Amino acid sequence: MFRKLASLHFGKQMKKTEDLVIAIDGHSSGGKSTFAKAIAEKLGLTYVDSGAMYRAVALYVLENELIIDDRIRKEELVKQLGRIEIKIGFNDQKKIYETWLNGRNIEDVIRGVEVSKWASTVSAIPEVRTAMVNLQRKISENRGVVMDGRDIGTVVFPRADIKIFLTANPDIRAQRRYDEMIEKGLPASYEEVLENIMLRDHQDSTREASPLTRADDAVDLDNSEMTVEKQMEWFERLLESKKQENL
Ligand code: DC
Repeated sequence: MFRKLASLHFGKQMKKTEDLVIAIDGHSSGGKSTFAKAIAEKLGLTYVDSGAMYRAVALYVLENELIIDDRIRKEELVKQLGRIEIKIGFNDQKKIYETWLNGRNIEDVIRGVEVSKWASTVSAIPEVRTAMVNLQRKISENRGVVMDGRDIGTVVFPRADIKIFLTANPDIRAQRRYDEMIEKGLPASYEEVLENIMLRDHQDSTREASPLTRADDAVDLDNSEMTVEKQMEWFERLLESKKQENL
C-alpha cells in the first residue's frame, strides 16, 4: 500500500533488486531458461519456467486419454482443468525450482519430444492459457521473479521492470536442445529436434491466443554466438542502464 501511494506521489520509484519482475520471451530452445536462471541466481530472485506449466498440462493430456486420432479432446480437457494442480517447488539439494503435477515431481518427464509437441498444442487453447497466466501471476505475488516464456512481457506482466526478447538461429537452437537431451540420456535425433523446433516456432507464432510476439518495450538479444557469461555481461550493462533511468 505504501509503495503504491509513494509511486503515485513520486512517479517512477527506484525498485529494490529483490522486487524486480524480469520477463524473458523468445522462441523454443533459445536458451531462455539458462539465461533466466543465471539472472535469478545473480539477483536472488525466484525463477519461474512458465513453459513447464504448459508441459505439465501436456503430460496430463497424454496420461489421461485426452488424445484421440492425434487430436486433443479440447472440451474434455477444459472440463478437467480444475483437476490439474501444478506447483513449483524449490529443490534444496539441487538448488533448482521443479514442477509438480497433482503431487508428483514431473521435472524429469516433461522435456522429451512428445511432451514438447503436445505442450505447443495445449498452449494454443485459450482456456488453458487463462488458467496458466493466473497461476503464473499468483506464484509471483509479493516477490521478485525472473519468468521465461512466450507472452510474459506482453500478457502476464505487461508492466515488468525489464523485458528481454531472446533470439538465436534455429540450427543453433536445435544443436543446443539435441546436446541437452543427449546429456540427460533422452532419445534424440538432430533432424527430429530441428523439425520439432521449426514446428513449434510456427505454432507458437501463428496461434490465435497470445501468439509469441515481442513486446514493444522489450530489449532484443541474439545469443547465437554468445556464452552464458557473455549474456550475463550484457545483462549487467542493461541493468545498470535501467538503474540510471530508474527502471
Ligand atoms: O518454453 P518451453 O519450450 O518449455 O514451452 C513449452 C511450450 O509451451 C511451447 O510450445 C510454447 C508454450 N508456451 C507458451 O505458449 N507460453 C509460455 N509463456 C510458455 C510456453
